[in-house]
Amino acid sequence: MNERLKKIIDLIPNGAFSLDIGCDHALLDIALVKEKKMKKVIASDNKEGPLLKAKENIAKAKCEDQITLTLADGLDAYQEGVNTVIISGMGGYSILGILKRRKDLLKKIETLILSPNNYVPFVRSSVGKLGFKIVDEYLIQDKNIIYTILKFQRGKEKLTKKDALLGPILRKRRENIFIEQLERERKGRVLLLSLLPKSFFKKRRQVQRELKWILSEQKK
Ligand SMILES: C[S@@+](CC[C@H](N)C(=O)[O-])C[C@H]1O[C@@H](n2cnc3c(N)ncnc32)[C@H](O)[C@@H]1O
Repeated sequence: MNERLKKIIDLIPNGAFSLDIGCDHALLDIALVKEKKMKKVIASDNKEGPLLKAKENIAKAKCEDQITLTLADGLDAYQEGVNTVIISGMGGYSILGILKRRKDLLKKIETLILSPNNYVPFVRSSVGKLGFKIVDEYLIQDKNIIYTILKFQRGKEKLTKKDALLGPILRKRRENIFIEQLERERKGRVLLLSLLPKSFFKKRRQVQRELKWILSEQKK
């Protein structure tokens, strides 16, 4: 169990009825039963290969009574009573696609735990527009990659572009990993500006604006 999955488990409310979309090996779901004593978990994936591996792991861990495995696309795996949805290890656009495709079911969800592999600012601002607000967020480093884990709950919030980029809670907490992430983001943008042709006005202006926000955050 890597640190990213451990943090996701920490963020899931005790006693939740959770649906893990894209469960792959189902290690997270097994830990929810074993460590958080969850009595009912749905682990779903849209491919048979991962589900076969998940089935084997669940049998080894003797969690068949608590974990329901489902072959389904995104929120189609929803069952009445599910109040928490976990989607981790997918791209930001895929996560948003999954949430938007079944807005009828999304209405029934109280908590979302999302860990996008990319486009984190886009996920922060877009999920906010679907009727959720960020209540917690963490950065977790695993082998030189820094992952973001976002916890949303039903509610309203108007994020500034700077908060969407850097994380409203990360900015307040200012942990060492956030400072490290800021430096990575700064270097990335400096490099991008050196590579972007001058004719890409709009893109250059956007990167310059983000660089300004990053530098001002670093000065705090
Ligand atoms: C990289 S794995 C992530 C596994 C695990 N959630 C984690 O964070 O380590 C992504 C999984 O999502 C599944 N997946 C991708 N799109 C999906 C969708 N629309 N619905 C359900 N599962 C999906 C893939 O088959 C794959 O098993």
